[in-house]
Amino acid sequence: MAFLRSISKTDPASLIAGDGVHLRTPQMSDFAEWAELREVSRDFLTPWEPTWPTDDLTKPSFRRRLRRYQRESREGNAYPFFIFRDEDRALVGGCTLSNVHRGVQQDCTLGYWAGAPFAGQGYVTRAVRAIIPFVFEELKLHRIMASCLLENERSRAVLRRCGFREEGHSRGLLRINGVWRDHVQFAILRDDPRL
Ligand SMILES: CC(C)(COP(=O)(O)OP(=O)(O)OC[C@H]1O[C@@H](n2cnc3c(N)ncnc32)[C@H](O)[C@@H]1OP(=O)(O)O)[C@@H](O)C(=O)NCCC(=O)NCCS
Repeated sequence: MAFLRSISKTDPASLIAGDGVHLRTPQMSDFAEWAELREVSRDFLTPWEPTWPTDDLTKPSFRRRLRRYQRESREGNAYPFFIFRDEDRALVGGCTLSNVHRGVQQDCTLGYWAGAPFAGQGYVTRAVRAIIPFVFEELKLHRIMASCLLENERSRAVLRRCGFREEGHSRGLLRINGVWRDHVQFAILRDDPRL
């Protein structure tokens, strides 16, 4: 495991290396590949995500997205990454650390997605395994939280396989596909075994 380049306030090419995948800060040059992957994955992803704005896959919207990402990373509030397969550098999905709390909490929230053509091949599991040491060793946080819809067995399997433990249910936690939905909460702590 290596942080090829640590996340810095100014470095848009920061990399986290995993097993056969690497995570990189999104860049404008990713737009075409990202928009195509999200479009072909629309039916696969939309049941599990907040409603996509109508202009979501346009270039101006992507530019605004990147500006938000840059601001949040600069302020230490969130760290968004795209997941690339090492062998051909194909964009296979995304993985975001958000809601970074310092002070007494020292935690963050993990979210992720895989493009439909790449799902079920272990890429997100490997990306999550790579991001865990980044959170604990580089950001020096204490807890990573993640939540899934109760029926999202795939997502729950990813978290369990990486060492996250189930902590309970939250009612109406997130508005998914237009509806406030109950979620199952998972977390991994800095000293928990990493699988
Ligand atoms: C959930 C998601 C991120 C997982 O990414 P992925 O790359 O497909 O995950 P992986 O291939 O690393 O692992 C999937 C695991 O779930 C298992 N799985 C796949 N389909 C399953 C299903 N229908 N029921 C139960 N388990 C399932 C796989 O077998 C694998 O486990 P295994 O390796 O022990 O067999 C991806 O499928 C996705 O983007 N889904 C739609 C959007 C979404 O759910 N986002 C997350 C919201 S919390």
